[in-house]
Amino acid sequence: MFDHVTLMTLDSHDTTASAICWTLYNLARHEHYQEKCRQEVMDLIEGRDGQEIQEDLSNLPFTTMCIKESLRLHSPVQAVTRSYTQDMVLPGNRTVPAGTICLVSIYGTHHNPTVWTNPHEYDPQRFDPSNKKSQTSHAFIPFSSGPRNCIGQKFAMVELRVVVALTLLRFRLTPGVNPELGSSRVLFNFQSHHFRSCRGCAAEYQH
Ligand code: HEM
Repeated sequence: MFDHVTLMTLDSHDTTASAICWTLYNLARHEHYQEKCRQEVMDLIEGRDGQEIQEDLSNLPFTTMCIKESLRLHSPVQAVTRSYTQDMVLPGNRTVPAGTICLVSIYGTHHNPTVWTNPHEYDPQRFDPSNKKSQTSHAFIPFSSGPRNCIGQKFAMVELRVVVALTLLRFRLTPGVNPELGSSRVLFNFQSHHFRSCRGCAAEYQH
């Protein structure tokens, strides 16, 4: 019971927090994507009331592409392990004996150049639905896969969209420098926007 509660509360927090941070970091480093996401959020909220907006925050296709690309490039969980319950014959006639513990590298899969072109580049277009057919089903596994995959993945994606959308409405993200890490290590700054609301919805927005 203790393990389950710990998993649901603590592990789900730091994975989501890490995903939010990396998404904001990547948007700070790629201003044109940041602006495109912001525009998408503003288009969504224009002329609508709060309840409608909440329901529709899950409908942000480009922002979702940016979040997924962050989950690919900077996966909060780097690897998962599985124990073979039976002998497994692999291509090349090699057998993994039952009882072996196998580590599946999420980082390795997401950075494998045979799976992803220019894997170290931040390119949200990879997740354009029109490119989905060219991806294999296990190329993108930030939430793992199979019967013990993440039960919170849909909730996490909603959380991510809401936090990223509301942050972009209020702040412009710019790359910054952490003096303790040196100039080569870029963090990001939040610059506040003046944000006016119009008849209960956020329709006007100023730089
Ligand atoms: C971006 C956020 C998240 C990421 C990247 C993530 C990733 C993962 C991964 C990779 C696993 C599989 C571990 C394994 O196969 O051994 C997992 C399992 C799990 N996750 Fe998440 N997770 C996230 C958010 C959440 C949230 C928000 C919740 C709950 C509300 C949650 C609850 C769980 C639970 C309960 C399991 C265990 C499932 C099982 O063992 O059957 N996760 N998560």
